[in-house]
Amino acid sequence: MMKQMQPVRGTSDLIPEEKACHKKVIATALSVAEQYGFQDMATPIFEFTEVFSRPLGASSDVISKETYTFDDRGGTSLTLRPEGTASAMRAIISNGLTQSLPLRWFYAGPMFRYERPQKGRMRQFHQFGCELVGPDSPLADAEIIGCGAQILEELGIYDKCNLRLNSLGDIQSRQEYREVLVAFFRSVSGDLSYDSQRRLETNPLRILDSKDQGDRVLLADAPRLPDYLSDEARRHFEGVTAALDAASIRWRHDPLLVRGLDYYSHTAFEFVTDALGAQGTVLGGGRYDGLSETLGGPALPAVGFAAGVERLALLIEQPQIFHADIAVLAADAASGTASFGVAQMLRRSGLSVIQLMSGAMGKKMKQANKMGCRYAVIIGEDELARNIALVKDMQTGTQTDVEQAKLGETIGRMTQEMSA
Ligand code: HAM
Repeated sequence: MMKQMQPVRGTSDLIPEEKACHKKVIATALSVAEQYGFQDMATPIFEFTEVFSRPLGASSDVISKETYTFDDRGGTSLTLRPEGTASAMRAIISNGLTQSLPLRWFYAGPMFRYERPQKGRMRQFHQFGCELVGPDSPLADAEIIGCGAQILEELGIYDKCNLRLNSLGDIQSRQEYREVLVAFFRSVSGDLSYDSQRRLETNPLRILDSKDQGDRVLLADAPRLPDYLSDEARRHFEGVTAALDAASIRWRHDPLLVRGLDYYSHTAFEFVTDALGAQGTVLGGGRYDGLSETLGGPALPAVGFAAGVERLALLIEQPQIFHADIAVLAADAASGTASFGVAQMLRRSGLSVIQLMSGAMGKKMKQANKMGCRYAVIIGEDELARNIALVKDMQTGTQTDVEQAKLGETIGRMTQEMSA
């Protein structure tokens, strides 16, 4: 097959079975988010490059090596969105909504990162997310975490996930910590992995997240972020954990959790599962009070999360995929046109109908069965002459003659009785 006939590496088609899982994940997430007052919204798939480069941090992996950035035909640098938080904040500022807080926004859609593809890690993937902009209370952080937990619960996978929680402190505590951390890593830099040596210059906090075994040994002696939190940052963290406890949301303090994007302060969290191999983080987020200012907006407290739809879809049970309720089939070649008229009439009355157009009668009935149709409506010369159709209940096998003019009404009543 021609290379161009394959999907691009790191992208994939969503054939109906997979699309059904995605739809279930997103519909469940939206319905839970609505219980918390979140409103569905969307931003464009591409933005001016600066919308991402400044808030996410030039030294973050996402900006330094993962964005799809290109000049459009007018020579403007654009970037396919690698995530939704910066775009949502840009939208709040550009729609003049910074005085209309609090805002609770939900979004879902494709994101793009040029990463090394593996199970659960794609170059075009899908996220849904919630952003709560306005409140600086730790209760907002707890509410965001609670919403994420409830979505996982309703998807039936909460028990497979653990909540890791950390405080990154305010800017001042992090600055102080960064200095002692850099001094520590400089003293052992010869033993650090290549990636961590690079990060020491650009983004030293990310070394805490290193998966390298040698780095992890060194980390045991590294200065700990919790010891450098200001009183205010500590109070905020205690407010979050007390609220989680009050709602019986299980959490575990992970002082090494820093997350990959630069805009976080105070709370950072991730729900992680063992069930997916290396890409176990299904939902992550935190507080990002400084993001608005990096985009030129006013100071706006904010907290949120995003979840990977592909990863969640791998964990849930395959939902039923949609099939039509009714199959319409002609018993003989001469009745084809008339059967089409009947199919259209049934659809107009609100029923879902597929036409079975080829094959002998037995083959058509097999097809109707395979597609899970509840009823088959059969039209042949005899039925046409009597202005009726034969309605066959596919489960019981019972056949009933129904006047064509009353077909919609009769089948509608039968399906309602069935589901009652
Ligand atoms: P993130 O941790 O970069 O955070 O991404 C959130 C989730 O998206 C991850 O936990 C993972 O499930 C999924 N994900 C990320 N990259 C990929 C990939 N290449 N393939 C498949 N799934 C992936 C954010 O994006 C922040 N905007 C979250 C946030 C919202 N923070 C505050 N508000």
